[in-house]
Amino acid sequence: MERKTMKTALVTGITGQDGSYLAEFLLDKGYAVHGLIRRSSTFNTDRIDHLYKDLHDPSARVYLHYGDLSVSGQLTDMLHTIRPDEIYHLGAQSHVRVSFDMPEYTGDVTGLGTLRLLEAIRKTGIKTRFYQASSSEMFGAAPPPQSEDTPFQPQSPYAAAKVYAYYVVRNYRDAYKLFACNGILFNHESPRRGETFVTRKITRAATRIKLGLQRKLYLGNLDAKRDWGFAGDYVEAMWLMLQHDKPDDYVIALGETHSVRQFLEKVFQKLDMDYREYVEIDSKYFRPTDVNILLGDSTKARNVLGWRPKVGFDELVDMMVKADLELAKKEETLRIAGYERSNNVR
Ligand code: NAP
Ligand code: GDD
Repeated sequence: MERKTMKTALVTGITGQDGSYLAEFLLDKGYAVHGLIRRSSTFNTDRIDHLYKDLHDPSARVYLHYGDLSVSGQLTDMLHTIRPDEIYHLGAQSHVRVSFDMPEYTGDVTGLGTLRLLEAIRKTGIKTRFYQASSSEMFGAAPPPQSEDTPFQPQSPYAAAKVYAYYVVRNYRDAYKLFACNGILFNHESPRRGETFVTRKITRAATRIKLGLQRKLYLGNLDAKRDWGFAGDYVEAMWLMLQHDKPDDYVIALGETHSVRQFLEKVFQKLDMDYREYVEIDSKYFRPTDVNILLGDSTKARNVLGWRPKVGFDELVDMMVKADLELAKKEETLRIAGYERSNNVR
């Protein structure tokens, strides 16, 4: 029987929400997965610890490499050594509010980081396929529904950096015939979502309030609307883009929009509570300019790639509430045993 050679993928941002789901997905498909990680004085691999095996174990297929998207030489050396068949570029300063506090850093990592990787591909001359984590934030103030044909109107340094990255991907595709795709993904969430993004901030706080571990939840703009889907479904779309016979750009979205207030109501209702008793508005969570409404039209991805999301909005909320309730219960057990977790609100 013919033995199939293992494909190799490089994932930047492997320690993030999407990186962890994508690594799982690629391992299931039989890939060897290389990940770029940052040196940190505390552990930053929680989301992928269950995937990592000691490299002395012959079945190990996850390899982690220290590096940073702000250092180009390192990226070039890494590509030269690993020679991945596919590169999934997910690493970024990905928080929109933070991008107003750190605009220069965000431009460097989220915008130029993409250029550095594309240049590394060009200079090493490796044959690979490249996925860019583009974002619905790029549509900004453009009226819904937003599709591949909607002109961008970015409303933050983060969105502007992503627009820059989007266009260099297209330019390198045209100029150097790289197989490079933009996945324009609308918001996607999960129990692994970072705790400072609004959905997870809400599910964490509501479940902690339920168990008496927290009293208040401070939020900003409750009227903003987002098209929220499940991260596990969205990483499949990334992979499908790189399996197609030609490189292109695709919107990935559930196609439903809900306000932050509706999300809040739903979460608190599931826990038999009324959010109005616990939520306070704090101006520090407002942005100088916000995106009012995102609603994606992913017809192209559904028709061309055959992509179908499996988890709907209600199931997503359920999944997040259940997972955070379990986490809060563990926290309560630790508290009873005398261990207090710090709950720094950010
Ligand atoms: P995330 O959880 O914030 O993860 C970001 C990842 O980037 C982390 O692994 C982080 O490492 C890494 N990173 C940050 N700065 C870096 C640097 N200077 N050098 C190397 N790595 C760096 O983000 P996510 O939600 O998984 O999103 C993945 C990508 O999709 C991002 O590019 C994001 O902008 C984009 N996107 C996300 C959504 C969404 O709704 N989730 C929608 C559209 C696009 P540490 O763990 O060390 O911090
Ligand atoms: N984070 C946060 N914290 N957002 C809040 C809060 C709060 O306390 N209160 C209200 N919001 C509102 C924000 O103003 C925004 O309108 C909305 O909730 C969603 O905020 P986030 O969850 O931080 O996500 P985002 O939409 O700004 O950005 C995410 O999605 C993008 C795709 O559209 C990030 O994952 C980006 O990386 C991604 O590109």
